[in-house]
Amino acid sequence: MTRQEAFMHSVLEMNPQADKKYTINTYGCQMNENDSEKLAGMMESMGYKHTAVLEDSNLVLFNTCCVRENAELKVYGHLGALKALKLRRPNIIIAVCGCMMQQQDVVNHILKKYRHVDIIFGTHNLHKFPELLYKSLNTDATVADISTSEGYIAEGMPIKRGHGVKAWLTIMYGCNNFCSYCIVPYVRGRERSRRISDIIDEARILGRQGYKEITLLGQNVNSFGLDFKDVTSFSWLLRCLEEVDGIERIRFMTSHPKDLSDELIYAMRDCSKVCGHLHLPVQAGSNRILEEMNRKYTREKYIDLVDRIRNQMPNISLTTDIIVGFPGETDEDFDRTMDLIRRIRFDYVYTFLYSKRTGTPAAKKSNQVSDKIMKARFDALLELQNSISKKINSTLLGKKLEILVEGPSKNNINMMMGRTSSNKIVNFEGTTELVGRLVVVNIDNAGTWSLDGSLV
Ligand code: 5AD
Ligand code: SF4
Repeated sequence: MTRQEAFMHSVLEMNPQADKKYTINTYGCQMNENDSEKLAGMMESMGYKHTAVLEDSNLVLFNTCCVRENAELKVYGHLGALKALKLRRPNIIIAVCGCMMQQQDVVNHILKKYRHVDIIFGTHNLHKFPELLYKSLNTDATVADISTSEGYIAEGMPIKRGHGVKAWLTIMYGCNNFCSYCIVPYVRGRERSRRISDIIDEARILGRQGYKEITLLGQNVNSFGLDFKDVTSFSWLLRCLEEVDGIERIRFMTSHPKDLSDELIYAMRDCSKVCGHLHLPVQAGSNRILEEMNRKYTREKYIDLVDRIRNQMPNISLTTDIIVGFPGETDEDFDRTMDLIRRIRFDYVYTFLYSKRTGTPAAKKSNQVSDKIMKARFDALLELQNSISKKINSTLLGKKLEILVEGPSKNNINMMMGRTSSNKIVNFEGTTELVGRLVVVNIDNAGTWSLDGSLV
């Protein structure tokens, strides 16, 4: 039994008859969602049951994100609102973890201003949660552990997955890139890859459990395996996962353009289970801004890369991230971004307003762009991209496409929804027996963000 299993067992033994319920609030990226699935797995192993009702729970967990300021402000808002609940029910445990907790000033602020928080731990100490919970159940003081056990990768943690058809599979942690606006390398540490055999074992288990789709996660999956300094590479991993029984579809995110090799393009082309979609953040279309962002490629290199990808996979769907309002971004710089969007014709663009993150080089720049200009650029970009997305989606009208059925449609519970290999949402009339199956639909209607289809 490992140390953490022993603590899980101890918490399970405490108040075994008591009604133990937890809520979990997750902010930020898919890696955080995957971490929350592991935290949920640990809580269930310790006898807690999930509830969506905050008032019913006696363990409340916040898994935080600090990539942009508004995610942080939301966490502070929710924590503040819990003060009254803690006064009414002093035995409730409030735990806060995730990227925000890797920043010492945030931890100090919480210790000082949110004294009703019981447990604080960082991204490197996820596996220590049972131990911290055990300690907290035996003390009135705040239990905080943000020590950096960065090199350690915990395997075999219990997990309670949020979906029955598609699963997140984290393949590496951290980031070495230090894009000048980004806080991630400071809070998630250096790149560490999981062993390829551990990843394949997890994929095999998922296949046996009936999962049909896996999404491989990492801040920069293209540099997977480089830390082993042997032949391990992301393209090799894809080729190995192609062989896993039961898994029908493989997705991955996120790819850094500077590390996307021809070898990977060929692996994507050759592996029939690897989906026809690539998320390739460009961030900006101006070479001056790209250099200031420390992205290590030019717009010309990016365009050339997209050409090489499209040469091998003509129908691939491409999505990207763009930041508007990076410090010093002029109208001309922004025009270069708009021009790149017109030129590449992405299927979808995730647009972000630049958010100043203390501790990053970009935050020290004096020429920050005003909120008004940033918002105007954001709106212009969205308008342009929406028209492109709609036009691209209209080309699918009348086509017969295979989709993996995920569950009821979000907007209309009488309809079902699935995704094409290119990651487009298709709503259609069908029954819940189809969930987890690959079916072919005819595309009858094309919107900006989703398609409507009918079973063939
Ligand atoms: N401000 C705005 N957007 C950011 N991102 C990362 N850091 C910031 C920031 N400081 C965006 C990038 C990245 C995505 C996950 O979040 O576009 O690709
Ligand atoms: Fe942040 Fe850049 Fe690393 Fe992505 S690649 S996590 S944007 S530093």
